[in-house]
Amino acid sequence: MEKSALQIARAAYQPKLPLGLQGAVKAVEGEPTQSVDNQEEIKQLFPNTYGMPLVEFVPGEAVAHEKMNVGIILSGGQAPGGHNVITGLFDAVKKLNPENRLYGFILGPGGLVDHNYMELTKEIVDEYRNTGGFDMIGSGRTKLEKVEQFEKGLEIIRELGIKAIVIIGGDDSNTNACVLAEYYAAKNYGVQVIGCPKTIDGDLKNAQIETSFGFDTACKTYSELIGNIERDCNSARKYWHFIKVMGRSASHIALECALQTQPNVCLISEEVEQKDMSLNDVVDYIVDSVLRRAADGNNFGTVIIPEGLIEFIPHIKRLIAQLNDILAQPESFNLAVSRNDLIDFIKSQLTDENLVVFNALPMNVARQLAFDRDPHGNVQVSQIETEKLLSTMVAQRVEKFKRWGRYSGKFSSQTHFFGYEGRCAAPSNFDADYCYALGTSAAQLIANGKTGYMAIVKNTTAPADQWKAGGVPITMMMNMERRNGEMKPVIRKALVELDGAPFKAFAAQREEWARETAFVYPGPIQYWGPTEVCDQPTMTLALEQAK
Ligand code: FBP
Repeated sequence: MEKSALQIARAAYQPKLPLGLQGAVKAVEGEPTQSVDNQEEIKQLFPNTYGMPLVEFVPGEAVAHEKMNVGIILSGGQAPGGHNVITGLFDAVKKLNPENRLYGFILGPGGLVDHNYMELTKEIVDEYRNTGGFDMIGSGRTKLEKVEQFEKGLEIIRELGIKAIVIIGGDDSNTNACVLAEYYAAKNYGVQVIGCPKTIDGDLKNAQIETSFGFDTACKTYSELIGNIERDCNSARKYWHFIKVMGRSASHIALECALQTQPNVCLISEEVEQKDMSLNDVVDYIVDSVLRRAADGNNFGTVIIPEGLIEFIPHIKRLIAQLNDILAQPESFNLAVSRNDLIDFIKSQLTDENLVVFNALPMNVARQLAFDRDPHGNVQVSQIETEKLLSTMVAQRVEKFKRWGRYSGKFSSQTHFFGYEGRCAAPSNFDADYCYALGTSAAQLIANGKTGYMAIVKNTTAPADQWKAGGVPITMMMNMERRNGEMKPVIRKALVELDGAPFKAFAAQREEWARETAFVYPGPIQYWGPTEVCDQPTMTLALEQAK
């Protein structure tokens, strides 16, 4: 692999570890835990992995560890720092016993089921230290949920003498990791399963998980790009830029980017839902800023749009819920070969209200809502061009204002989507350290015989040596939710809290940003230099932890 100068210099970076993980480690256990809700149901579904204590790692006495082999899987969308979870895990398992081996399953959970793997040696792992991407072993979205998959996986686990599997993923993948842990525990197979909190979306967080890895780097990367656009925008003064950022459901990325770059408008899906706003209301909200700025002679601006917006607009959300039910009917499978027939069938089944909404959407958006789903049944919001939809609707609306004599400005727009640009960026110092610590924690959870736990690192706004590493039982973060028509145990997804500190900080300033040009240009992520430039966590994390 030919390397860039940055890659070569960055390979030498030694991630910082919390004090508790630096030398020999002792596991300190807390009180038994309960799930966040539906305790009785979760307990019944997870009799072997429910109620386990929180674990914290503190400095301890060196003890000899028996040889153990470990498998690792990257699941779902890429997030900066994934390679450092692997390098942290690798270094820690080798430190526990140099004979230990680490196996990577190729292209996600499917690699375990299909017995597609490689041994991760020092030579391989060293090539990827502190790099972005998941390309060391690849990732995939296969859902690990069926007994046949668990049993098929067990064959290769036995063949390779694997004691534990580490699954690096988001809320869905970690829910499945817990189901797998419970299954192997119930069968007494002696195979441990450990999860690790990953997703740029930032929606896998709660009282135990301060942030998911990758959020920091992805937001800083998008904020750099948004800042560059704002500066261009403020230089040419002729375009409104509509910028969609990733975040399948929650608007954490949009909110963080807004806090970093101070755009004129940032939509927060959770607020749109809470205020029961229609698509037209959303357009009016943007138009208000366009008109006010035009009155000051500023015919330019920036709008940040969260990827998941469309699903949070209440009347579209109701439509999607009914589409899900219709698509689950056997008739839909039979008609799936002809999309036009399926559209006719869908229309014949929709309620009057939903039919009106469906027909009012541009055909490409309606078809995307109806057809394009990922293996978890999620609408593939990254494919829906909300930024184009909104810029077109805003243009039409300001034209009307012009005809009514209430607007004399000039409206031209540019659209952007920042998603894949940030998911494989070279991890910031925060993500490089955080991920390395998560991998090290995962190794310790395994060495301490734990299963059904997720590796965690807390106190992350303090310097890294003061971070607190440990593990949380996955069942502790679960509740029952309706998924594809059935009640299922799942890890509760963290949406933007409208009474939370990050949203409040944004809401306190947005009126001013809507009218003034208050742009901030964060510039690129820095890896070397003053700590206030290189080692700051996200503003979201800083505001949340300052509570
Ligand atoms: P994860 O939840 O798996 O981390 O992925 C999040 C994400 O990056 C979303 O922001 C985006 O909607 C989605 O992945 C895109 O998925 P894909 O890579 O399959 O196009």
